[in-house]
Amino acid sequence: MTQAIASPLVHDLIGVGFGPSNLALAIALQERGASQGNLDVLFLDKQADYRWHGNTLVTQSELQISFLKDLVTLRNPTSPYSFVNYLKAHGRLVDFINLGTFYPCRMEYNDYLRWVAGQFTAQSRYGEEVLTIEPVLHNHQVEALRVISRDTCGHQHVRTTRSVVVSAGGTPRIPEVFKALKDDDRVFHHSRYLAQMAKQPCVDNQPMSIAIIGGGQSAAEAFIDLNDSFPSVQVDMILRGSALKPADDSPFVNEVFSPEFTDLVFQQPDSERERLVNEYHNTNYSVVDIDLIERIYGIFYRQKVSGIARHAYHTLTTVEKATASERSERGIELVLRNNATGEVSVRHYDAVVLATGYERQMHRKLLAPLEEYLGDFEVDRNYKLITDERCKAGLYMQGFCQASHGLSDTLLSILPIRADEIAASLYEHGKHRGHGRSVVDLLLATAS
Ligand SMILES: Cc1cc2nc3c(=O)[nH]c(=O)nc-3n(C[C@H](O)[C@H](O)[C@H](O)COP(=O)(O)OP(=O)(O)OC[C@H]3O[C@@H](n4cnc5c(N)ncnc54)[C@H](O)[C@@H]3O)c2cc1C
Ligand SMILES: NC(=O)c1ccc[n+]([C@@H]2O[C@H](COP(=O)([O-])OP(=O)(O)OC[C@H]3O[C@@H](n4cnc5c(N)ncnc54)[C@H](OP(=O)(O)O)[C@@H]3O)[C@@H](O)[C@H]2O)c1
Repeated sequence: MTQAIASPLVHDLIGVGFGPSNLALAIALQERGASQGNLDVLFLDKQADYRWHGNTLVTQSELQISFLKDLVTLRNPTSPYSFVNYLKAHGRLVDFINLGTFYPCRMEYNDYLRWVAGQFTAQSRYGEEVLTIEPVLHNHQVEALRVISRDTCGHQHVRTTRSVVVSAGGTPRIPEVFKALKDDDRVFHHSRYLAQMAKQPCVDNQPMSIAIIGGGQSAAEAFIDLNDSFPSVQVDMILRGSALKPADDSPFVNEVFSPEFTDLVFQQPDSERERLVNEYHNTNYSVVDIDLIERIYGIFYRQKVSGIARHAYHTLTTVEKATASERSERGIELVLRNNATGEVSVRHYDAVVLATGYERQMHRKLLAPLEEYLGDFEVDRNYKLITDERCKAGLYMQGFCQASHGLSDTLLSILPIRADEIAASLYEHGKHRGHGRSVVDLLLATAS
């Protein structure tokens, strides 16, 4: 039987996930705590220790946003948690200036985020996956929330809190045709790229044929890494679109990632919000950094010059069927349809990388026990879920509000501002509900 460990404490806030969104919130709450009193906050992350999309940190990958949009600078450029202060603390400030870039490599940004996370160890627990968030009821009202998590030893933990913030990030999108192969080590989503590649025979220089499905930034980065790091690998890029298209990061368009644009999107009716998200979709989704597109084009051009066609590029192509071939040496069999000609072909690969993007549905799963108090997961301007009057607990979300707050919501663009908006709302919520001893504590006391 699973052992459950129940804590008698009542937290003011439990955060699900300790990625950039909740790191920014931890800092914003610490800043407010100095003048308004500290809240009792705990962040839970399922990773054994903090890594920022750790299995995608290939050497050539760069941050796709200015380092000035770090966890704090937009709100408080004097904060000790800035990227510049991280550089200074690590003795690389002058060298970084000499690099002359706004876009550090993602390995370095991962190190920056880990450096910040390391300063909040008292408020964080790693290796704990939140399974569900349940109501604590008193007189038919949701007075608090019960957060149930499981640690790496399989023990369940039960904690009580007045508010939660769900900042659990995206979940790999696995196309329907590949779902039956989910346990096959040769077919994996890009979010597992480095760990899975380490198990492939090309690590020992064995020849391999690998398909990459998708035409976004992840697909492009996987292609470059396979080309550069594994000389024995032949790659087929397979995409539904007609070309790899560039991400629009031109300056006027980039204003959609400003804090003011969040206000603008939020003030619109639903149909206009949707139109705005669609209009600027090509700043972020199914698009690739122009430098990378040029590198990939160069690789294919040089193949034409040499006459050695190592890699292939299949556009307007849909995968109709994917099966593990009965003869294991034939690998994964893909049935491909060319959407322009209708031609169907069958190809075999030793591995398939699904660079097919991410879904944002985790909030629905985690908050399912609270469904009757929620509408359709609508939030107010401060990312607080709109509940019926029976719910007195605070429910917040980061990264699940693109439809109401715009494209910045899943990115790093406005983290310091959003974090402070949530922090202010939490203090406001506390004012009405009271921090410290309250009906929740009495409830728990009578229950024990
Ligand atoms: C490969 C990649 C590169 C990117 N690069 C950029 C970039 O350069 N610029 C940019 O603006 N955006 C980028 N993004 C977008 C990305 O969403 C943000 O950079 C950022 O990671 C969002 O932070 P977050 O904290 O909301 O989510 P995440 O970083 O995804 O963090 C969520 C955390 O929650 C934890 N978690 C999930 N479920 C649970 C659970 N049930 N219980 C406990 N913990 C849980 C996870 O372990 C994770 O640590 C990138 C995305 C990817 C996939
Ligand atoms: N260096 C970096 O900073 C870096 C690196 C990687 C990712 N990222 C970020 O991470 C986010 C996600 O990028 P991403 O490239 O992973 O995902 P993405 O931009 O959503 O692209 C997903 C790709 O998969 C395709 N696809 C989706 N479902 C499919 C299906 N069922 N069958 C076939 N193809 C399918 C899409 O095709 P359609 O276009 O036809 O829909 C698209 O080409 C973005 O914000 C990106 O900027 C950043």
